[in-house]
Amino acid sequence: MNEEQIAEMLQTNLWKLELEHPLVMGAGVAKYILGPEGLEGFLSTANASLLIGGSFTVAPRAGNPGEVCWSSDDGRVTVNRMGLPNKGMEELTHHLPGLMPKARAKGRPLGISVAADGDSPLPLPDQYAQLASAAFAAGADLVELNLSCPNTESDIIAFNLDDLQSILSHLDQNLDAAQHNVCMKVSPYSQSSMIEDVAALANQFPIIKGIATTNTFPNALVLEDGRPVISSNEGLAGLSGPYLFPIALGQVAQWRRHLRAEKYILGGGGVTTVQDVLAMRSAGANAVFLVSAVLAQKPGIFNRLLNGLVDHYAQL
Ligand SMILES: Cc1cc2nc3c(=O)[nH]c(=O)nc-3n(C[C@H](O)[C@H](O)[C@H](O)COP(=O)(O)O)c2cc1C
Repeated sequence: MNEEQIAEMLQTNLWKLELEHPLVMGAGVAKYILGPEGLEGFLSTANASLLIGGSFTVAPRAGNPGEVCWSSDDGRVTVNRMGLPNKGMEELTHHLPGLMPKARAKGRPLGISVAADGDSPLPLPDQYAQLASAAFAAGADLVELNLSCPNTESDIIAFNLDDLQSILSHLDQNLDAAQHNVCMKVSPYSQSSMIEDVAALANQFPIIKGIATTNTFPNALVLEDGRPVISSNEGLAGLSGPYLFPIALGQVAQWRRHLRAEKYILGGGGVTTVQDVLAMRSAGANAVFLVSAVLAQKPGIFNRLLNGLVDHYAQL
């Protein structure tokens, strides 16, 4: 392939959002807007085609105490029970508008992941609607609804069809579907019919443009010298990294079967190699996100994978 054909192979769309290449920085790496550990810092260091910050909740959250994230030395297993630490909606409202022009100048769209907080007095649909409206008002190119955090005291929303229905219906009424790019971040489902049911909901609401799959696999346990590596919840925590990859790939394939063709899939979970990216794409992912690999291998992984993809296509 020549350069032009390679560029064409790399280019992908998430609804109206055109991405230069398929490698996305997923939610959880940059939990803040400002600072070197925020979206601001990763804009300079991560050659991702889209960076997703958050998850943000309406009120700030401190997160869980003690050891909250652990990775094996070989990087194949990561467990975390961060518990959604973030500075709340105020950080979005105050600091995202100033960052958007810098992101545009670099040609890097920014997405914002938003999550409901079980401790909030606001009903779930209001929390998501307020957060999504605030993110779009601040200039976000995409909003990801985190419906699948397994690391707080609350139940996982992605398994509750009634809650999903009321959240999506409320968002559909409050946001202009013709303008806004909203996707749902879901859990890994071991029952295929559950994917079919949630896909039917996603298909029903025009505000939902796509699915991000998968979040961490809940309640994994890693022991070192007989003791849990994570401090809270008796060590039970969300699993990510390469051990998750075959499950994540299976999720993407099943979602592609049930989701309408015009809805996109942002696929990820354990992606670390060019082969993983290509497999995600052939299973039906429009773009591919990475989180644990960015934490373990630093943001340079984006350039390594991008160069690998270019080499791969150049040989075709
Ligand atoms: C330390 C850490 C923090 C995370 N925080 C979030 C988060 O705030 N919101 C979210 O939707 N997913 C979060 N995730 C899940 C990731 O976005 C991703 O779905 C999961 O880790 C699987 O991808 P990976 O194997 O590339 O890490 C987090 C994951 C890790 C490891």
